[in-house]
Amino acid sequence: MNNCVVGNGISLTELADRFGTPLIIYDLGRIEENYKAIKEATGARVLYSIKANPNLAILTFLRKLGSGADAASPGEIFLALKAGFEPGNILYTGGAFRSINDIKYGIDAGVLFNFDSRREFERALSLATGPGLCSSGLTWAMVGGFAPGVMLAGEESKFGMFLDEAVEAYRLARDVGVEEFGIHAMMGSNVLDADYFVKIAELLKGYAEVIEDRVGVRIRYFDMGGGFGIPYKPDEKPLDLNKLSVLRNFFPGELWVEPGRFIVGNAGYLITRVTEVKRKGGKTFVGVDVGMNVLIRPMLYGAYHHIVTCNGGEEREVVDVVGPICENTDKLAINRELPKVRG
Ligand SMILES: Cc1ncc(COP(=O)(O)O)c(C=O)c1O
Repeated sequence: MNNCVVGNGISLTELADRFGTPLIIYDLGRIEENYKAIKEATGARVLYSIKANPNLAILTFLRKLGSGADAASPGEIFLALKAGFEPGNILYTGGAFRSINDIKYGIDAGVLFNFDSRREFERALSLATGPGLCSSGLTWAMVGGFAPGVMLAGEESKFGMFLDEAVEAYRLARDVGVEEFGIHAMMGSNVLDADYFVKIAELLKGYAEVIEDRVGVRIRYFDMGGGFGIPYKPDEKPLDLNKLSVLRNFFPGELWVEPGRFIVGNAGYLITRVTEVKRKGGKTFVGVDVGMNVLIRPMLYGAYHHIVTCNGGEEREVVDVVGPICENTDKLAINRELPKVRG
């Protein structure tokens, strides 16, 4: 971004004048570049992770580019269907411990399921009557939440299951007539080290071999989840996509990936206006007309979002950038050095 001009010469200040603030702008050209970059680097089937941004226009755009969808809730399945995704292109992973109603929603929608525990699979089976869950040849893949990344996270993680339980779950699936199987990993988020993905791929392949050996089924889909990182700060280096090319033809089946952040994370601009600058003791607060009601990540987990001032001068100062919500945690940035602004 140069002087608050983005994409093909679009001025963010002009947009702010025209539409008012706060205003969110998405750069679809950037989203297309990101989608193509990860697809070309890995050679994988891409399932965009809706939780990263469920905007309907973005979902529709990605669907037209050829993406599938990774949904975490009935709401996200609803949006994916609205955006025109075929149920067979929607993988429903959930956040573990799905309610029976949430499972039923996915079954009724006919989407692909990714199970997080053997018990969750049994609960799904209890709903499957008639030509439902796993009769008709297979309308869904058993893509387990058997994530090595999660396994590595150990007992403290609420996600996924250990290998022995996974073997039991695949056995059960085999015994009830499931014919196609996948394996899934979600290994962490915003990882900028490409070697890490290679390591996870090796683990996933190894686990698949154990499952194939012990259960006698063939794993066809290898879903490495999301987690592909992006630089947030100007001095951070991007993920080396060239190194991901070893993932092409790495698996004895089809590779799937579920990028979220990588596709949309650098394609959005939240435009806000300064309401007032308050100097109080040793602190300077720059108040803006957007807060945690619009962007909660900084308050929720201290996420860094880069802030650019469109009208700032040469002089700089360290400030807290704060929103208008009646909570002292409503801070978009704390002790951030920015060009001095008026207000
Ligand atoms: C199952 C699953 N897939 C994909 C993603 C997307 O992750 P990211 O945005 O880091 O690519 C997540 C994020 O939590 C996830 O839980």
